[in-house]
Amino acid sequence: MPLVTLLVVCLLIPVHAAAQSFAPSGWDAGLKLKESADLNPDPKIVEINLTAKLADVEVAPGKVVHAWTYDGGLPGPLIKTRVGDRLIVHFKNELAEPTTVHWHGIRVPIEMDGVPGVSQPPVEQGQSFTYDFIVPDAGLYWYHPHVMSAAQVGFGLYGAVLVEDPADGIDVPDQVTIVLSDIGFDDKGVLEPAESGGSAGMVFGREGDYVLVNGRTRPVLRARAGAPQRWRIVNAAKSRFFYLDLDGQEFTTIGVDGGLQEHPVTSDILLVTSGERVDVIVTPKGKAGTPLTLRAMLYNRGYGSVEYRSVEDLISIEFTDEAPIEAKPLTFTRPMTPPTVAGATPVEFDLTLPPMQNNQSEFRVNGVPYWKAKAYPAKLGETQLWIVKNDTDWDHPFHLHGFFFQVLDDNDVPVRPLALKDTVNVPMKTTSRLLVTFDDRAGEWMFHCHILDHADGGLMGTVLLGPVKASEHVHKKPTSK
Ligand code: C2O
Ligand code: CU
Ligand code: CU
Repeated sequence: MPLVTLLVVCLLIPVHAAAQSFAPSGWDAGLKLKESADLNPDPKIVEINLTAKLADVEVAPGKVVHAWTYDGGLPGPLIKTRVGDRLIVHFKNELAEPTTVHWHGIRVPIEMDGVPGVSQPPVEQGQSFTYDFIVPDAGLYWYHPHVMSAAQVGFGLYGAVLVEDPADGIDVPDQVTIVLSDIGFDDKGVLEPAESGGSAGMVFGREGDYVLVNGRTRPVLRARAGAPQRWRIVNAAKSRFFYLDLDGQEFTTIGVDGGLQEHPVTSDILLVTSGERVDVIVTPKGKAGTPLTLRAMLYNRGYGSVEYRSVEDLISIEFTDEAPIEAKPLTFTRPMTPPTVAGATPVEFDLTLPPMQNNQSEFRVNGVPYWKAKAYPAKLGETQLWIVKNDTDWDHPFHLHGFFFQVLDDNDVPVRPLALKDTVNVPMKTTSRLLVTFDDRAGEWMFHCHILDHADGGLMGTVLLGPVKASEHVHKKPTSK
């Protein structure tokens, strides 16, 4: 833009206008997610079609995988709504296997939670199911199947749901949604079998060789040096953790799973474990011609996660030659009431991995894998203090369906800044203390490790909230072929 035009444009901007976009045009073209089309003219309703089907997807130049997809893409389409909207999803299963859609993190009614046999029957091949619910909280969420989830998520079934709050006060218009994942396939594009490596593979948590950013390998993002960008990140990998590094430059975390946190925090490295989300502001610094790389560093989540592994390049950030911006640090507070443990019902979950028997390993919660477990009771409106004791040598990102919790420190004081979580990493040989308040959405709600191989390997259970009967359904032990 010629300088004169620029000046005129600047003069026309009212003093209190929304913050300016500094991103060069097409800055996010390398990362853009396909968005689902809203078929409903009502501004408060987002109504979409979503189809699970097989498709060939090119994830790197010349590398095509025969993936399981939503709408033929990897990841599935980005579903965009505003907080308080009604979301209607006409889901169709064109796969040869039953499936469901679970809305990870969204406080849905139990009928919409997508757990086969618990909250709905599985959606069989050729069948449809309509998901219909209100999105009550702003934030980044995601969707994935809950039928043989390690297999189905690993094969490509996942997508992001962005619930925006136009009044969130975060004046950073240059915003991008980033879905991190991985996938394994051979020279012919055939998916790596979900049971590869047998019981040991289950215990490690299988990672695919192709590390993907919005379904692509090492995409390019363009930036003006120093100009703030808002990245909404979800880790949709079934097992892999992402330990993000931007060549030591700062991340300002403004939110996590359940939306904005109490106040921003800066760090130079950022751990996003399977199932978690982060909302961060980055102000990449650098020069034209010298790209900056977002990398996934090695993180030890247990044996097999660092041995013979390498750092992965995720995104290459290329700078324009415009003058750098000096961005003001972002400040805000989201007033949140610190939870109190007084009166909370303690519930202990001991996570163990006994030695192999008959060449099989299983993870256990309080001595039993999920296929032998009984539901844990909870009363409507009750607050529970969950003491999650990880006695194994692997980390476990612990996830609860349908509700947020807050994380407490060793003295049962809430960790600051306060934040709403639905998935939290419980590192090996440590104990996490979580405070969860149940509301009136009676039903059977799941909790499980979000390393989905661990979940399928036993690390899963349910909470029976309110005066309902446990489902007759018995979770089957996965059978290996
Ligand atoms: Cu992503 Cu049962 O959850
Ligand atoms: Cu685990
Ligand atoms: Cu089941």
